[in-house]
Amino acid sequence: MDFKNKVAIITGAASGIGKATAYAFAEHSVSVVVADIDPIKGKLVSDYLKRKGYRSIFIETDVSSPAQTDRMASKTLKEYGKIDILVNNAGIEFGDKGNIIDMPYGKLKRILDVNLYGYINCARSVVPHMRERKQGGKIVNVSSVEGLSALLPGTSYQASKSGIIGLTRALAIELAPWKINVNAVAPGAIATEGMGAAHDQKIVEAYRRRIPWGARGFPKDIAGPILFLSSEYARYITGQVLVVDGGYLASITPEPLVPDPHSHPVSPEDPDLEIK
Ligand SMILES: NC(=O)c1ccc[n+]([C@@H]2O[C@H](COP(=O)([O-])OP(=O)(O)OC[C@H]3O[C@@H](n4cnc5c(N)ncnc54)[C@H](O)[C@@H]3O)[C@@H](O)[C@H]2O)c1
Repeated sequence: MDFKNKVAIITGAASGIGKATAYAFAEHSVSVVVADIDPIKGKLVSDYLKRKGYRSIFIETDVSSPAQTDRMASKTLKEYGKIDILVNNAGIEFGDKGNIIDMPYGKLKRILDVNLYGYINCARSVVPHMRERKQGGKIVNVSSVEGLSALLPGTSYQASKSGIIGLTRALAIELAPWKINVNAVAPGAIATEGMGAAHDQKIVEAYRRRIPWGARGFPKDIAGPILFLSSEYARYITGQVLVVDGGYLASITPEPLVPDPHSHPVSPEDPDLEIK
């Protein structure tokens, strides 16, 4: 994949899937903007990339604020002169605890403000530049299998992730005349240090038995498909949702699919065993 001289903004790149995506882009010679609300972890990622000889800057950004996403876009343009790729990835949940009645209203709203309005804000800040430049562009939105199927107890997280899919389709149509591809990835269960942290080993083990691949995924398993959708190999793909879940959604079989996940004929590579 040829990404020479490309510039990518990745939101939520201080951790997990965003961080793995920032590393993957940098390794493909993309100039990377690490945009994150966390100034300490965000700067660590950007400094690490710079030490490896890659081009990267950190821009502290709360994606729920249109003023801050405007600043993110203008600082990127000042530093690199253009924006080729936007990866909308920053997301939150509150441990998926609480249903629509029990979860405080402020939390319900904050999830939508970050996970859905955050993506809209970033698109509104970046798209005018992409349109004006008339060189196309790529937007990849990180949704979730929870945007396609609900995991309970859940609240506005599911609504946000379904909303991202609607946003992806609408933007894809709106921006096609400018040759800006807009697609989404829908990760399954991914072992990340943030919202994908393994707090409960019983749940990790249940995933091993329910996911045909036999384990949760690594952040880099999502970074690869994001790179593909940001590349010229995906020139004619727009408005699509790429599910990346080790086969999780492919089956509605009620029994565990993998009765003994520790005796695979071929090791699935298990991030939860590697972390231990
Ligand atoms: N981990 C999973 O199993 C999984 C599954 C499906 C979808 N996803 C989605 O992937 C994305 C990344 O998830 P992850 O597991 O890597 O999460 P993570 O918690 O490891 O990382 C999220 C990053 O977003 C940043 N962030 C939070 N609020 C922000 C804001 N307002 N503005 C800017 N940055 C903000 C955090 O500081 C953090 O660096 C999310 O959109 C999530 O919904 C994750």
